Amino acid sequence: MMNGKDTPKRKILVTGGAGYIGSHTVKELVKRGYDVTVLDNLSNGNMISLDGVKYIEGDIGDYDKVNKLLQFEEIDAVINFAALAYVGESVSDPRKYYDNNVVKGKAFLDAVVDSGVKKIVFSSSCATYGIPEKIPISEDERQWPVNPYGWTKLMFEQMMKDYDEAYGLRYISLRYFNAAGADADGSIGEMHDPETHVIPILLQNVLGIRKKFFVFGTDYDTRDGSCIRDYVHVTDLADAHIKAIEYLFENEKSDFFNLGTGEGITVLELIGAVEKITGRKLNVSLEDRRSGDPNALVADNTKAKIVLSWNPVHSSIENIIRTAWNWHSRK
Ligand code: UFG
Repeated sequence: MMNGKDTPKRKILVTGGAGYIGSHTVKELVKRGYDVTVLDNLSNGNMISLDGVKYIEGDIGDYDKVNKLLQFEEIDAVINFAALAYVGESVSDPRKYYDNNVVKGKAFLDAVVDSGVKKIVFSSSCATYGIPEKIPISEDERQWPVNPYGWTKLMFEQMMKDYDEAYGLRYISLRYFNAAGADADGSIGEMHDPETHVIPILLQNVLGIRKKFFVFGTDYDTRDGSCIRDYVHVTDLADAHIKAIEYLFENEKSDFFNLGTGEGITVLELIGAVEKITGRKLNVSLEDRRSGDPNALVADNTKAKIVLSWNPVHSSIENIIRTAWNWHSRK
């Protein structure tokens, strides 16, 4: 990166920078010498304040605010994390998701191109693949979501593709598998309200905040009947965003990548790992399937490894649980 003595720091706007993956990425950007501005409406964020980061409260759908901000701060590139991300809620309240993630997302993209910014990194999801035909899932897999959340992510990807061709917007779409874990120093971690994600729920059981852990489905076509997921450490995701930004500065070329470890673990195996690391036994109840859960989601991460030189070095399941536990037990 060109952050030598005489080179001005590159300026990055991070939307949703107070959220789970956003805050870890902001921390990593600062560590690597970027000048960071955060735009967040604080709807789901857990604000951390970091030295040298400008925090601005606002919405990505506020075209005027975003347009002015990008010009005033002379932003070089944006990373867009701001979105709603509960699959279940997207099914029961789709208009909220299309409004937030697509309608406001379009206003944001318009402000980006109108202000002359040509680079964007976007948080996409393996949810854009729906029920995959092949495991592990490569970027060539057909994208056919099975819930509104996945559709909103796919629609944003499509808008970026069209804006690339028409207006020269260069994008990198990062399709995360299951983001998990917490920063090594324990200052930031995963927190949702309500909590629906499996690792925080398991740890809330360890802490006694919940009395029982419910396994959603034991009759899937997997090695032990429970769902397989590919958990990837949030610090590795943060690193991928920085590699994506650097790729855009160096190559000025759009692309998309799967971010996962390539290894899947079942819910029952996850319970075993949590019990081993925390040293506590969980009260487990085997339940029916949760609607909309694909049986297995595992990434083929070859492309990210080759093109971005990305490697998920923090993503062993032990490290994921250990760092998450460190954070949850301190809260
Ligand atoms: N699970 C349980 N019990 C629980 C919670 C979850 O058994 O109390 C199981 C689920 O059924 C699933 C696995 O644990 O098999 C993981 O569930 P999560 O809810 O933690 O995560 P998802 O796999 O549903 O994640 C999905 C997509 C992501 C998307 C994310 C949005 O895979 O791409 O939802 O939050 F980004």
